[in-house]
Amino acid sequence: MGKKIKRIGILTAGGDSPGLNAAIRGVGKTALGYYGMEIIGFRDGFRGLVDNRRIKLDKSTLAGILTVGGTILGTSRDKPHRMVIDGRTRDMTSVIVDNYHKWGLDCLVCLGGGGTQKNALRLHQAGLNVITLPKTIDNDVAMTDATFGFATALDIATETIDRLHSTAHSHHRIIVAEIMGHRSGWLALGAGLAGGADVILIPEIPYDVVKIADAIRRRSRHGTNFSIVAVAEGAMSRDDFRAMTAAEKKLERAKTLHDKKEAKIELATLEVRHAGNTMCLAKHLEELTQLESRVTILGYVQRGGTPSAADRVLATRLGSACADLIHEEHYGVMVAARGDDTEAVPLEKVAGKRKNVPPDHSWVKAARRVGTCLGD
Ligand code: F6P
Repeated sequence: MGKKIKRIGILTAGGDSPGLNAAIRGVGKTALGYYGMEIIGFRDGFRGLVDNRRIKLDKSTLAGILTVGGTILGTSRDKPHRMVIDGRTRDMTSVIVDNYHKWGLDCLVCLGGGGTQKNALRLHQAGLNVITLPKTIDNDVAMTDATFGFATALDIATETIDRLHSTAHSHHRIIVAEIMGHRSGWLALGAGLAGGADVILIPEIPYDVVKIADAIRRRSRHGTNFSIVAVAEGAMSRDDFRAMTAAEKKLERAKTLHDKKEAKIELATLEVRHAGNTMCLAKHLEELTQLESRVTILGYVQRGGTPSAADRVLATRLGSACADLIHEEHYGVMVAARGDDTEAVPLEKVAGKRKNVPPDHSWVKAARRVGTCLGD
C-alpha cells in the first residue's frame, strides 16, 4: 500500500500583517510542489475551522500572492476556547478537534502573533498536530529573532517620520507621531532611531513629561525650534505605569469573583483613559514648551499594503521550513527565525510570553548615545 498523502490545514489569526500571503505561499508551494502534500485554507482564523469555511489551496490560488498585502484567507481575533456564537461565548475546542479529523488533517498550521501561539498550544494539548509561524508588526513574539510584518511596518513608520520632519521644521512645531505597539516598543524605537526622532517613548520605559519638555526646550535654546516625538501607543507616564501595574497586581492577587470583577473594572478604566494618551501628551508638551504641537496617528497604514523584500524573504523561508517540519512529523512547535537559519521551538516555550525591548538593548543604547530623549 502506498504512503498516505499528508493533508495540511492552514489559517491566519489575530491582526493582519504584511507577509502573511508570502508565508502561506511558502508553506503551500513547498508542501504541494516539493513534498506532494495537500493543503486546505480555513477562512477568518479559528472561526473558519468551527464553521467549516474552507478554500482549497492549489497551484493557481497560491500564484501571484507573494507581493499582496493582508491575507487571502481572512483573519479574526476569535479564540477557540472563547468564541462568540449566536451572541453567547462558548468553548469551541471540541468542534475544532472534530472538524480537524473530519477533514482528515495531519497538521494544522497557524500563522499569528502572541495570542495565536497560546491558542495553538491549547489545540495541541487537545491532541492536534499544530505548527505555528510568528507574525506581527509588533515584533514581540518570544523565542524568535524576528516576526514577519515588522520590517514592512518599520519602513512605513520610518518614512512617515522622515516626512514629518520637513513640516515640523517649517512650522517650528512639535509633532507627536503615534506608532503601533500596545505592550512593546520595537516599532516606535526602530522607526524613531531610523527616522532620527528627537524623543522616543516606548511602553518598556515609562516617561516623565517634564524631562521630555526639558529636552525639547534645550533644542530650542540651541536654535532648533522643532521636535519629532515618536510614541508607541502603549507608552505611558511613570504615574500611569504605577497605577496600571498596581491594578494588574490586584487582579493577579484577587481571590473572590467580586474582587476579580472589581480589579478588572479598574484595569479597563485605566486602559480607556490611556486611549487618548497621545493627544494629552501633545497638549501637555505644548503647555510646557510654548511650542505649537500636532499629532499624527499612523494607525493601520502600518499594517497595510505590499510586504517589504525583507518580510517576503523571512515569510518564505519560515513557511518553507514549516513544510519541512510537517514532512518530518515534528509538531507542537513554532518555526522561529534564528540568525540565517530557522529553529523549531516547542509551543510551551513561546505561549504566554512576550519579547519586550530590554532597557539595555543596543537600539536603546544607540538612541541615547546620539542624544535622543527616551523620556526617563
Ligand atoms: O498586534 C498588532 C497590532 O497591530 C498592535 O500593534 C495594535 O495595537 C493592534 O494590533 C490593533 O489591533 P486591532 O486590529 O484589533 O485594532
